[in-house]
Amino acid sequence: MIRRAKPYSKRLIQIKLSCFLVRICNSEPILEIANLRGVPCLHFCPSNHQKLRNMKAIITTAYGSPEVFKVDNVAKPLPKPNEILIKIHASSVTKADTMMRTGKPYIGRLMLGLRKPKNPIWGTGFAGVIESVGTEVTQFKTGDNVFGENIETMGTYAEYVTVSEDGIVTHLPENMSYDEAAGMCDGGITSLNFLLNLGKMKPGQKVLINGASGSLGTAAVQIAKHFGAIVTGVCSSKNSELAWELGCDEVIDYTKYDFTTNKNSYDLIYDTVGVRSFRECCGALTENGKYISPVLGMPLLGAMMMTSIFGKKKAKFSATGTLSTKETKRLLGILLEIIEAGNLKGVIDRSYPLEQIAEAHLYIDKGHKKGNVVLKAIA
Ligand SMILES: NC(=O)c1ccc[n+]([C@@H]2O[C@H](COP(=O)([O-])OP(=O)(O)OC[C@H]3O[C@@H](n4cnc5c(N)ncnc54)[C@H](OP(=O)(O)O)[C@@H]3O)[C@@H](O)[C@H]2O)c1
Repeated sequence: MIRRAKPYSKRLIQIKLSCFLVRICNSEPILEIANLRGVPCLHFCPSNHQKLRNMKAIITTAYGSPEVFKVDNVAKPLPKPNEILIKIHASSVTKADTMMRTGKPYIGRLMLGLRKPKNPIWGTGFAGVIESVGTEVTQFKTGDNVFGENIETMGTYAEYVTVSEDGIVTHLPENMSYDEAAGMCDGGITSLNFLLNLGKMKPGQKVLINGASGSLGTAAVQIAKHFGAIVTGVCSSKNSELAWELGCDEVIDYTKYDFTTNKNSYDLIYDTVGVRSFRECCGALTENGKYISPVLGMPLLGAMMMTSIFGKKKAKFSATGTLSTKETKRLLGILLEIIEAGNLKGVIDRSYPLEQIAEAHLYIDKGHKKGNVVLKAIA
């Protein structure tokens, strides 16, 4: 027996269609059903369309110079059941961002998009206030101040971002500003990964931080001091006062003195800017000393392979962004303890309004920023 399908009533079709339109637009419908002389038809609602494009963001249109960034109005994201919606007060602009922008080395495009960036809104580090939470969120509530890092989905060059509550996000400590916190994950988590996981740093060890005035370096000096190391900071004379303030036991001006001539002096050399090779640093390392650097090139790759087989001195690299979420959250927990103990402050060089993202990138491209550069969606 063939059963005839029950025809939908006109009203039911209207309800289903408008629900669908509401769903695809994440808000009020941009099209609604109007009754034109008894015939239902779709009607464009310009006022709702404007409401949808209600967040300012920087769109990355291509790889290349800082001109690839364009300011636009886009749809404000809505949190999924396990997500929080954050109104961003400050986001980080990092050296890694500027390298990604150039699209070089080309291998990075395997993740970012081959011909052009597949993710239109860039930016990873953020600090701000929670505007709303998804229905299943238990660890955060509206109004909480938070900071963290959106490594995979990015999207922090904007006024709002959504983050999974199980992602790299935590409550903002009372003793830290939004601006300081925005850059914390880049410099802080990376330096924790290098000093603790790769360097296996111990109290009383002699640690040299090359590039002590950068984002990674300023965090590394304070972290190494927190864990009881004896720290030598290497920077230019204009930044030596900062290095002393951060707690260095010794400061070397790289324009006047070459630290690699200090024979058998350091248990750990952390070359944050990757300007001295393992070969150059080898003589300055103690018998079981380690050279660690976050900047990967052929010389470091070769040194890692060689030292993994021969010799007691080792060369090591890690891409912190590829660590598991579990491990990054563990490092974030340690970072929080150091901040709350009052032993880690964010160093802010400059802050730029969202619209001046190109200027921020141009400044970082010069290679001499002091600590961190932040982007301010809210003036
Ligand atoms: N592998 C990873 O997981 C990872 C993660 C994050 C970042 N990174 C990479 O780490 C590197 C460092 O990032 P960053 O943000 O810390 O760098 P940065 O802030 O851009 O470094 C700038 C600082 O480096 C100093 N500097 C420049 N030339 C120097 C030299 N010859 N000797 C000593 N200091 C020098 C500058 O001081 P002066 O003005 O005094 O010269 C300036 O304060 C970048 O290449 C970034 O891509 C890697």
